[in-house]
Amino acid sequence: MCGIMGYIGPKDAAEIVIGGLECLEYRGYDSAGIALAEGHKIGISKCVGSVANLKTQLEKCSLSGKMGIGHTRWATHGGVTRENAHPHVDPDGKVVLIHNGIIENFHELGEEFAKKGVRFVSETDTEIAALLISSLYRDDPLLAIREACGRLRGAFAFVILFADIADRYYCVRKGPPLVLGAAGGEAFCASDVTALLPYTNNVLFMEDEEIAELSAEGIVLYGFDGLRKEACPHLVDWDASMTSKGTYPHFMLKEIEEQGSVLRRTLTGRLENGVIGLEAEFPFSEDARLFRRIHFVACGTSCHASAVAGRLADRYTGLDVRVETASEYRYGNVICDKHTLAVFVSQSGETADTLAAASLAQARGARCLAVTNVVSSSLGREVGSVLELRAGPEIGVAATKTFMGQLAALTLLTLWISKRKGLLAPQEEKRLCAELARLPAKVEDILARGEDVRKIAERYKGLPAFLFIGREASYPVAMEGALKLKEISYVHAEAHAAGEMKHGPIALLNERMPVVAVVPKDGIYKKMLSNIQESRARRAPIITVASRGDEDIRRFSNDSLFVPETEEEFTPFLTVVPLQLFAYHLASILGREIDRPRNLAKSVTVE
Ligand code: M6R
Repeated sequence: MCGIMGYIGPKDAAEIVIGGLECLEYRGYDSAGIALAEGHKIGISKCVGSVANLKTQLEKCSLSGKMGIGHTRWATHGGVTRENAHPHVDPDGKVVLIHNGIIENFHELGEEFAKKGVRFVSETDTEIAALLISSLYRDDPLLAIREACGRLRGAFAFVILFADIADRYYCVRKGPPLVLGAAGGEAFCASDVTALLPYTNNVLFMEDEEIAELSAEGIVLYGFDGLRKEACPHLVDWDASMTSKGTYPHFMLKEIEEQGSVLRRTLTGRLENGVIGLEAEFPFSEDARLFRRIHFVACGTSCHASAVAGRLADRYTGLDVRVETASEYRYGNVICDKHTLAVFVSQSGETADTLAAASLAQARGARCLAVTNVVSSSLGREVGSVLELRAGPEIGVAATKTFMGQLAALTLLTLWISKRKGLLAPQEEKRLCAELARLPAKVEDILARGEDVRKIAERYKGLPAFLFIGREASYPVAMEGALKLKEISYVHAEAHAAGEMKHGPIALLNERMPVVAVVPKDGIYKKMLSNIQESRARRAPIITVASRGDEDIRRFSNDSLFVPETEEEFTPFLTVVPLQLFAYHLASILGREIDRPRNLAKSVTVE
């Protein structure tokens, strides 16, 4: 949450910082701000709203500089106002600072300063950091930062300018991510590698409790103990073209349409000649027979993909399966030991709750695996063992193609464990592999008929709420469909296990509350038909997501979205696609800000 970009070098810093913030806007877009240093003069511009507003504001003033830091905010402490926008400055104007994270003891520290007569300009937890560093600063910036970090509790990524230092700026990481890059007399920092790709893909992921000094000479790293640390850069195999929208109106649509190729990439090399092979990526293959439990832990969309995988694991692994939201897992008294395989699923690899849950499982001795799109993310580095999604950068706040990548990676993992435990017969493996290989083309077949979904969305545009239902693996798909709809269209949507309808939710139904039923031809199909009938009897309009060729379903539906037939285990790969498109088109018809839905941020780096 919150996007940070910093630059020093021979070029105009404003252009580079603004460009970086535009790229990072998916992390927050409540307000934006920039500080530009020209020698010892630091100019600041900030505003409520998007980076575009900041850009317009900057064009009207004469700020410039070869060193600059910028911020796009997702508000935590303090409302969305210009005063609360970053950068923040201490009253003496010595320290200018931007922040991502939460400083938990800002009240206590604030009272100390208030007693000394300091008056705060903002309601944020950030201003205190600028004050504290300034109060500790004599002539050694590193020492002041280290002493301040010793007094601050919570999570923070800071980028700091000192008014009397014209040739360097500083980055600090304790929690939220910061990525650094240096090349040809320039040094950059950003919250996410995507902002650095136009300049370099040789990057340095800051570790926790590190301070970096960035100058035209490059990057020098220190620990919180003040000792120099060796910098170990990573080569990232993404390029800037992957973060462009191309001719699409929204990143979300582009990413939905990429799902066939994402699926191909995720399966490539892991599925050959009817055989699943994860030897190279799954370090616990030898221990598979010793596992008693498998835990899937994640948030949001990643948790829905985990719930699909959980059902597959129930069926194929013979393990005790638990699927849990990361924010709950970490506080429960979970049995999690060396007989437990704990799988942490996160697109970004930066979700604070998922990271905290992974630390807990590691401390308890579980075998931990990260399933993530960003191998060098905090989660990837914390856990060490990574199964990569290979979905490419996802910019739209609503996760789509990474859900597809997660389904594929988790399916391979689950079947691989089954195989290592001797539970997957070669014939069965062959049958499943053959169908997995056919899925990308089937996804593309659905996408080719996207316009049909738009027409259906048009018919439902005025309705205030939707109820999504499904059973077994279609239940998490229903949850994902409801999540997509509410997060980008702001239309109320909830999902229920279809069998639960009669225990309460059915009371909500009337002719203005459509039921979206995920009803592929599977073993539970007949039961779903009964639930659909019950909903029809309460006058709810019915939209079904069904298997192509199921003509019967039309009799029970006002509208149907058909997907190709597949093996029962794999229906989520297909049924989710029309739901993503439905959410996208409804939001587009309603004129919503699809790639930047209100109140949300792509990476949730606070707990
Ligand atoms: O990066 P992660 O997969 O850990 O993110 C988890 C959730 O924050 C994320 O899936 C969120 O629910 C998305 N907005 C869903 O579209």
